[in-house]
Parts: sequence; structure tokens; C-alpha cells
Amino acid sequence: MNATVSPQQLVAAAQSARKQAYAPYSNYAVGAAVLTENGEIIPGCNVENASYGGAICAERVALTSAIAQGKRRLTAIAVVTVDGGSPCGFCRQVMVELGAEMDVYIGDAAGNFRSTTVRALLPDAFGA
Ligand code: THU
Repeated sequence: MNATVSPQQLVAAAQSARKQAYAPYSNYAVGAAVLTENGEIIPGCNVENASYGGAICAERVALTSAIAQGKRRLTAIAVVTVDGGSPCGFCRQVMVELGAEMDVYIGDAAGNFRSTTVRALLPDAFGA
């Protein structure tokens, strides 16, 4: 974890990002926040589509936004849902690609969260 941003702060950023979720089809709002090595926080939320397969998860919005902003050294990601849901497999694969050494904080709407790592979430991952 970055010295200047605590896990609690990163989870709070994901809570805030969750408010921006565009999820009219599932009504399952997800927020994410990526932490860079310089202490910057980059938010993401899920964005759905009437063509359901066009939906993108909050984690991948945050991770791809970080890349688009030129931030490639990512140290942690927080994900918040109503019930503390765990990141999907597709997002885990993208985490391995863009931030294999990240800590991962998985939180719920009440502010509770648990800590894990990308390596723990996707052991024996496929790689380049
Ligand atoms: N979703 C995420 O944003 N992240 C995940 O890790 C799992 C699922 C979103 C996708 C969709 O908008 C909604 O949650 C229900 O699947």
C-alpha cells in the first residue's frame, strides 16, 4: 500500500465512484478505485448497455483509465458493491495484466472490507 493513501481511503474512493455507476439493467452498482505508486487515485464504475454484452465492469474502467492517463505503476485497487461481491474472472485477468502486484480491497456498502491480492485472486494465471 502507498504510504500516503490508506486502504480505508481507497475503499472510500471506490464507495464514492460507485455512486456514478450506470447500471439500469442489473441495478447492481459497482465502484472501483485504483491507486498509483505516486498516491494518485483513479476511479471507475460499471457502465451497462441495452446490448448487455456491452457492459464494462468498474474495475476495468478504473484500470484502463489509469493506463489512458499514463499511469502504469499500480499498487492497489478497491472494489465496492452492496454486498461485498468479489471481482469477476475477466477483471482478475486484467488485474494480472496491468497490476499483478496490486493489493485488492473488497468492500460493501456498509464500509466493511477485506484485503487480498491479485496473485491470490488468480493463481496460476495465463500470461504473455
Ligand atoms: N460487475 C462489475 O462491475 N465488476 C465485477 O467484478 C463483477 C460485475 C458489474 C457488471 C454489471 O454491470 C453488474 O456488475 C452485474 O453483473
